[in-house]
Amino acid sequence: MAREQWKSEVGFLMAAVGSAIGLGNIWRFSYLAYEHGGGAFMIPYLTALLTAGIPLLILEYAIGHERIGSAPLAYAKISRRWEWVGWWPVCFVMFGIVLYYTVIIAWCLAYFFYSFGLEWGADPDQFFFQKFLAVSDSPADLGEIRTPVLMGLAVIWFINWGVVYGGVQRGIELANKILMPTLMVLIAVLVFWSLSLEGAWTGLKAYVTPDFSKLTNPKVWIDAYSQIFFTLSLAFGVMITYASYLPDKANITGSALLTACINCGFSLFAGIAVFSVLGFMATAENKPLADVISQSIGLAFVAYPKAISMMPGGNLFGAVFFLCLVVAGLSSSVSITEAFVSAIVDKFGVRRQPLVTGVCVLGFVGSMMFTTRAGMLWLDIVDHFITHYGLVTVGILECLVIGWLFDLPMLRDHINRISSVQLGGIWDILIKGFVPLVLMVILIGDLYQDLRVPYGDYDWTALILIGRDWLLFTLVLAFFLATRPWRTKNHRRPGRGAKT
Ligand code: ALA
Repeated sequence: MAREQWKSEVGFLMAAVGSAIGLGNIWRFSYLAYEHGGGAFMIPYLTALLTAGIPLLILEYAIGHERIGSAPLAYAKISRRWEWVGWWPVCFVMFGIVLYYTVIIAWCLAYFFYSFGLEWGADPDQFFFQKFLAVSDSPADLGEIRTPVLMGLAVIWFINWGVVYGGVQRGIELANKILMPTLMVLIAVLVFWSLSLEGAWTGLKAYVTPDFSKLTNPKVWIDAYSQIFFTLSLAFGVMITYASYLPDKANITGSALLTACINCGFSLFAGIAVFSVLGFMATAENKPLADVISQSIGLAFVAYPKAISMMPGGNLFGAVFFLCLVVAGLSSSVSITEAFVSAIVDKFGVRRQPLVTGVCVLGFVGSMMFTTRAGMLWLDIVDHFITHYGLVTVGILECLVIGWLFDLPMLRDHINRISSVQLGGIWDILIKGFVPLVLMVILIGDLYQDLRVPYGDYDWTALILIGRDWLLFTLVLAFFLATRPWRTKNHRRPGRGAKT
């Protein structure tokens, strides 16, 4: 089977950056930065980037490129026994992350339209939680589906379908070549506009002033590592898949460094817009900054709308802000859908187009769960379990399987033969020892914290049934898929001999 390929390396880079830059870069990063000591958060964040993010990104690009396969195929080519390690992430991103991720993009799409008429009125908090989502009291109380969310969701899945249906070059590459430059222009407009607002400096000061005392709290480090995984789409199966579409000669390390720098630079840059606006609001309301900042989701859907209503030309500013989120989110959701589609095509040899249609319909139906009145609560729980346990566990397994059971020096030689930046033995040490060790500490720390205090004050039954069992269900599915027989062979790049 000859594999599809990117038209150019820039196309690959745009797609990889598109996957990395997402909703997490704008609201999640800003909120974490504020909560965890402003400028001081850069220390754990950059440490996590250098010690785990970049080494793992190189590993994922390298394994996808060298084994020429989506995550399950790449692992199966290492050892059939470990094929499930490739299936698990593509299952939990497809039947977990992307289901609620598309719902958040749908909220952003609705808010894009609401911005023009400042529909949230004088009380954005009440509007978001009670009128728009009508959030129920407990995860057990599902309530009805929220129609405006459902409509937005249909649009988002339709776009997803259109892009992934088009294939690697004419779908994903083309879409990202449009979406990424658009996103850069939009965010630049936001940053410069927000800097001109009165009080912007008050916000910026809070953003960059370090509070080093926060660094002694292990939660800060746990959050920094989880954020790096989420933001670089690591352990999603996405980067392995995207790298498998590269031609023989590809700059692995250069692309990994560029992807990581553009992605994290984007987060830092977007943070300027978020904090300037909060500073503006604090100044206008004559309140301390801490009083105008709300929890992660509230930051985008409560604090921001409030500020938008207060600023001159706010409706346009709001529209640009929510459009930014929609664009950033779409390119990430496309990448997740592709990771799953590619895995199924690789293994079962089914035709891509009907499969994409089936997967997107399934995705839409699955997402509906998160459009109910309890949707936000379910989303919060599923997200916590997948990002804190799923991603980190897959990161550990990735290091152990590729680091110890595969020929790592051979992989490093492969990378060095085709890359601009050469890797030394230190990379082997990071992959074999340091990264899995740090991730294990993070995992144990997380588990300890969650066992001590139930996450988000939800009751244990909800956490176990919705969070833990959701993750376990995707693991069972991964084992099931891994045990099915392979229906394809001779996976190779176009114009080359067979390589299995
Ligand atoms: N990497 C994507 C994000 O940060 C999933 O939102």
